[in-house]
Amino acid sequence: MKVNHAELVISAVSQQQYPEEPMPEIALAGRSNVGKSSFINKLIQRKALARTSSKPGKTATLNFYRINESFLFVDVPGYGYAKVSKKEKAKWGRMMEEYFSTRDHLRMVVMIVDIRHDPSEDDELMYDFLKHYNLPITVIATKLDKIKKGQRSKQLQRIMEVLELEPEDTLIPFSAETGEGVEDVWRTIKAYIQ
Ligand code: GTP
Ligand code: MG
Repeated sequence: MKVNHAELVISAVSQQQYPEEPMPEIALAGRSNVGKSSFINKLIQRKALARTSSKPGKTATLNFYRINESFLFVDVPGYGYAKVSKKEKAKWGRMMEEYFSTRDHLRMVVMIVDIRHDPSEDDELMYDFLKHYNLPITVIATKLDKIKKGQRSKQLQRIMEVLELEPEDTLIPFSAETGEGVEDVWRTIKAYIQ
C-alpha cells in the first residue's frame, strides 16, 4: 500500500483522549523493545514517525497514527521489561484493559514477537488476553534479518507451538531492517480495514 499521509493524532493515556474519528483501527502489542514502533515506521516508510530506541520502554502512551485518512495505527507501550515497578505494571495493565475492552473500531491486533526466541510467558498471556476479547490476531515474527535462512521455518514452528496459534490466526515473518514481509502485512491489514 502506498502511504501518502501519516500523522500522529494523539498520545493518549485514557479513554477520554482517544480520537473520535469513525475509522477502523489496527493496534500493536508486544514486549518492550521487540520492534513495534520500528514495524510501524517500516510499513509507512517513515524513518522516525514512531519514536524507537535501543532501550526498552520508549513508548509509554497509546499513540494513534492516522494513515492515508483511512485507518488508525495504535502503537502501544511494551510489556515484560523486568525493571518496571509494580505500580507502573498495574498502570500499564489498566491502560491496556481500558483500551482493548472499549474500542469498538478495533479490527485486528498485530502482535509482534522476536523470531529468534520462543515467545515468553508474557507473550502467551497477551495472546490469551486478546483472544478473550475475540480480537483477530496477526502474529509478526520480526528481526528476521537476525537469523540464518535455514532456521526460519523451525523458529516459525516454535512460535506457532508455544502460542498455540489457531487456524484463523495469521503468522508473518518480517524485518524492519530489510523490509521483508511488508507486502504480506499490508495484504493482511487491508483485508481488515475494508
Ligand atoms: P518499546 O516502545 O520500548 O516497547 O519498544 P518497541 O517495541 O517499539 O521497539 P523499537 O521499535 O523501539 O525497537 C527496539 C530496537 O530494536 C531498536 O534498536 C530497533 O532498531 C531494533 N529493531 C526493531 N526491528 C528490527 C528488525 O527487524 N531488525 C533489526 N535488526 N533490529 C530491529
Ligand atoms: Mg515503541
